[in-house]
Amino acid sequence: MKELKILAVLVFFTLLTYWGVEPFAHSKMHKHVEFKNFAYSDLKPIGKTGDIARGKALVMGAGACVGCHSIKSQGMPAPMDPNSAASAYGVNPPDLSKVGALFDAKFLANLIENPVKALKLEHKFDGKTRFFPMPAFGGAGGDKNQEVADMVAYLQSIAKEVTPVEAYETSCGRCHANRYGKWTQIGMVPKTKSNIVTNQDVDLLKFQTKVADYQNTLVKYTGKLPPDLSIMIRARSEEFLKTFLENPQSQLPGTGMPRVGLSKEGYEKVVSYLEKTGDPSKPARDALGPWVIGFFIIFTILALLWKKSVWKELH
Ligand code: HEC
Ligand code: HEC
Repeated sequence: MKELKILAVLVFFTLLTYWGVEPFAHSKMHKHVEFKNFAYSDLKPIGKTGDIARGKALVMGAGACVGCHSIKSQGMPAPMDPNSAASAYGVNPPDLSKVGALFDAKFLANLIENPVKALKLEHKFDGKTRFFPMPAFGGAGGDKNQEVADMVAYLQSIAKEVTPVEAYETSCGRCHANRYGKWTQIGMVPKTKSNIVTNQDVDLLKFQTKVADYQNTLVKYTGKLPPDLSIMIRARSEEFLKTFLENPQSQLPGTGMPRVGLSKEGYEKVVSYLEKTGDPSKPARDALGPWVIGFFIIFTILALLWKKSVWKELH
């Protein structure tokens, strides 16, 4: 009887924790944020059909994009190295070769017209005491909506085949290092050789100094060093990651991380990079699954046959 009472008390507290305390704590610590499928419904639709040739002329000319951004696939080099760019703008502007495939078209149009609003950074860049480094496009003399649509059409037309590493580099890499992927905010860690006299890898040390300099500047810009994302895919659920990327302010109010504006396809590319670098044994584990199930099926059949043969003799 005494044991039964103890059991009842145990069961009661287990259930209380399971249904009461845990969900309560969970809802306090990770509030539930609804996933909107990268719809960005607060942004205004494009409304015009873009013209690729006119868009190219604007991006290369009156839009001034290549004054700050490289478009390497089109032979446009970066105007500055990452460190100088960070000194000038706070952060290194990303290459625009693949943005048309990674970012949502509506988001891109809104970004060109009003970057601070599209990136959800109004709380940091009020336009009075602090200015965002990328200017809002004021128009090139014609119908501004048309000009924006033209530029988006051009950026989409040049963005073909995005590899996972390009997706990461373009949308996260200027802020987040990825140690497992050998990625730093200023590029891949170079392969260097030790100095034969001092046995020190001088070139690597020089590179690391540049990374540290860049990070110092970045912290002044974002307010906080963006964390290394090597194991983020294991530390955080996908549910968190996609709702957080859709709107960082929903989970970390006041954060300096922008709404990046990924499309669904762009998000999947970024995740595949994070999985490849952070959880490289996942494909092997997944491939093992069917074998394990197969083993259990065969084992069950054998067990049944064995049981049958044993019972036959008993009857
Ligand atoms: C004066 C420099 C400057 C000019 C001109 C400029 N940009 Fe930028 N752009 C930046 C900087 C700096 C960033 C990075 C801001 C950040 O990460 O906070 C950026 C970011 C971006 C991004 C990435 C946004 C995201 O969601 O991650 C895109 C796309 C972009 N710019 C496109 C353009 C286009 C298209 C034009 C021309 C219409 C343009 N930029 C003109 C400086 C500039
Ligand atoms: C302009 C810089 C910038 C860019 C671009 C950027 N981030 Fe961040 N990110 C930050 C900063 C700053 C933080 C730290 C936020 C904080 O704690 O306030 C952060 C935090 C995070 C976190 C941690 C959130 C947490 O709960 O601690 C994740 C995950 C993340 N970023 C993912 C990404 C991914 C994926 C991309 C690319 C698709 C990206 N970020 C692009 C600046 C950036």
